[in-house]
Amino acid sequence: MLSVAHKPVLLKEVVTALAVQPGGRYIDCTLGGGGHARAILDHSSPGGQLLGIDADPEAIRTATLNLSRFAYSALLVNANFANLDDICRRYNFYPVHGILMDLGLSSLQLANDPRGFSFQHEADLDMRFNPEQKITASDIVNTYSESDLANIIRSYGEEDNSYRIARRIVQARPIYTTLRLASVVEEAVGGRKGRIHPATRTFQALRIAVNEELEHLEEALRKTTELLGIGGRLVVISYHSLEDRIVKHFMQRESRDCLCPPRMPVCRCGHKATMRLINKKVITPSEQEIEQNPRSRSARMRVAERIDSDSKPYGYRKNSRPGFGQRGFSLN
Ligand SMILES: C[S@@+](CC[C@H](N)C(=O)[O-])C[C@H]1O[C@@H](n2cnc3c(N)ncnc32)[C@H](O)[C@@H]1O
Repeated sequence: MLSVAHKPVLLKEVVTALAVQPGGRYIDCTLGGGGHARAILDHSSPGGQLLGIDADPEAIRTATLNLSRFAYSALLVNANFANLDDICRRYNFYPVHGILMDLGLSSLQLANDPRGFSFQHEADLDMRFNPEQKITASDIVNTYSESDLANIIRSYGEEDNSYRIARRIVQARPIYTTLRLASVVEEAVGGRKGRIHPATRTFQALRIAVNEELEHLEEALRKTTELLGIGGRLVVISYHSLEDRIVKHFMQRESRDCLCPPRMPVCRCGHKATMRLINKKVITPSEQEIEQNPRSRSARMRVAERIDSDSKPYGYRKNSRPGFGQRGFSLN
């Protein structure tokens, strides 16, 4: 078990955005060390319930300890949030008042050297959140073609030097450790220039590819509309523009009634809004928070609320008790 602490980012803002209320039901899709989950459980007591999910079994072990005083109101599940709907159905946990996603990786994982998430410590190139996944960063680095590597580094790392880096990686193979990869990338781009280590983007790209992060995010977002009760809130914190773009487009799309191209005189798609945007602009940490927790500096939070629409949440019953917690929930 690790002694490193993970400071939850935008903690007060998350509790406010989720409109946490006593007796509410919440899903934390990215449990990590359980920092946000603890605040949600505190604010939803008495009677609140939380389903906490994390792909990393180590995170579940840490959160189980950190949330031990909520043993009867928190259910912690080691799973991928891409399977959100199956998990909620299995535990009969829907509809819910709020869903939180605090994406990326935690300080606990960064400090956990054997996983190789960081180029600052020597470790094997693994980078899997879930150690049962098949593909590791080493598999990608040592077996993918130069052009596939370049595509990954460019698309997931938004790295301008992707081709140069991919070529140098292929020449230097086999590469099994973080520090070796970091130095190969540094050689490829001609040494350090700015404040940011030249391997930062390549490491981000490999982590996203290994864990299929963007695909899982898209899949999970699509499932949130079926699980949120009417009036329920979706809160997502992302840490780089690729994630934020997916979240922004999802929320914008779900808050529009028609998705036909503007040149169409009448709507053919029949799409009906399922959400309304709560904040039009992203919420970012204060200067004070960034000073206290530099890791928070790239955080961007977006919030949307489930509205009544043609497509209803799972378990929705038209004439069931209105006004569950003042917000028109229809519970099973
Ligand atoms: C930034 S941390 C969350 C920290 C947490 N909010 C806290 O307060 O301690 C992100 C967590 O999401 C998990 N994660 C990332 N992608 C996931 C996925 N597709 N399914 C489940 N968990 C995922 C990671 O393993 C990591 O523990």
